[in-house]
Amino acid sequence: MLKIITLIGARPQIIKAAALSRAIRNNFSDKLKEVIVHTGQHYDENMSQVFFYELQIPAPDYNLNIGSASHGKQTAAMIVGIEEILEKEKPAYLIVYGDTNSTLAGSIAAAKMQVPVIHIEAGLRSFNKAMPEEINRILCDHISTRLFSPTKAGYLNLLKEGFKENNSPPYSADNPRIYHCGDVMYDNSLYFSTVAEQKTGIIGRLDLQKGQYILATIHRNNNTDEPKRLSSLFRVLLKLSSDERISIVLPLHPRTAKLLDKNLEANLHQQVKKSPFIKIIPPVSFLEMIALEKNCQLVMTDSGGVQKEAFFFKKPCIILRSETEWVELVECGSAILTDADEKKIEDAYHHFADKPNLQFPELFGDGKAAEFICSELLK
Ligand code: UD1
Ligand code: UDP
Repeated sequence: MLKIITLIGARPQIIKAAALSRAIRNNFSDKLKEVIVHTGQHYDENMSQVFFYELQIPAPDYNLNIGSASHGKQTAAMIVGIEEILEKEKPAYLIVYGDTNSTLAGSIAAAKMQVPVIHIEAGLRSFNKAMPEEINRILCDHISTRLFSPTKAGYLNLLKEGFKENNSPPYSADNPRIYHCGDVMYDNSLYFSTVAEQKTGIIGRLDLQKGQYILATIHRNNNTDEPKRLSSLFRVLLKLSSDERISIVLPLHPRTAKLLDKNLEANLHQQVKKSPFIKIIPPVSFLEMIALEKNCQLVMTDSGGVQKEAFFFKKPCIILRSETEWVELVECGSAILTDADEKKIEDAYHHFADKPNLQFPELFGDGKAAEFICSELLK
């Protein structure tokens, strides 16, 4: 039996980890023993606990309860806690997901203890080091032993950074193995798509009409922390929704919710609160989110995961950033990068409202990325 530790912390990592836990439960339970460690980076019920019971993820074996803090404090506290657990559990591998501070902390703690780091969602790059996530991804990739890239672009980025194709075992941080394997988020979206239909009650509850509302999310640090950008985003949401008489539903990340009073122009904030079209709601569960994604007209987001899910459910997406790691979405024409530019956002909305013939090719694998990862780990 091979013991692996799965490290999670932020909402999208908990969701991604569901795919691997499911693959282990269904196909590898006699060969892989998974120990789940939660850093506690996200801790609100609707940012963490809800996903465990909804997506049938086993309860964490450890929760470090680190919570929120500055980058340095948060990452350092995580490293200390993870190191102690690695010392005690002595796993064969530490699995980390994505690009958060939990990812960085896990990879540093494990690599220094010679525990091989498995990075799921390796190779993605925004080429913008002002993003904390870009720093986390690059550092994690370069101390990982096995790097699973969900996309061709991610795999090619690794080659450009000097990783070699088809290294021979034994693998190590100095002799890493890279893979292009599909996306565990796609595994999840396929798996939960049908059951999410039972959650479409949320559409009625919010008084939305299928196909006639915009689903928006905003949480990227530059969008929330820069008052000008945050105000531009809300100004254009307000304008578009009232001009077009279309509802916008915005499940608001706690980071953004906490900064509205401080960073949104006071007048605008009042207008947004009064608008009959803008529905600001607390974060929703994953199945509710899928239901909202499947039934919307269009997605507007600065989230990495939500951009992709828009694509999985064949919806156009306006990306509220200046660049994306998921370059294929833009190349296909189903997503447009607008940054926080009001004119570009309006233009992109009208472009998609004219119903261009959008293509959604199979870019993210076959829905079995997690099975592939498990079988490779056993080789
Ligand atoms: C983090 C990740 C980001 C990821 C996002 C997913 C880093 C550097 N950033 O950003 O890459 O896209 O998670 O959602 O790791 N808060 C709460 N309750 C919670 C969690 C957070 O109120 O359960 C609030 C706190 O005020 C906190 C703020 O949100 O200070 C930011 O949380 P943090 O985890 O530091 O970063 P995110 O913006 O969530
Ligand atoms: N998500 C969710 N509820 C919400 C908003 C998002 O379940 O209210 C899910 C979404 O479906 C996707 C993931 O959270 O699977 C994306 O996480 P997030 O946007 O927080 O982070 P990112 O992907 O940008 O790192």
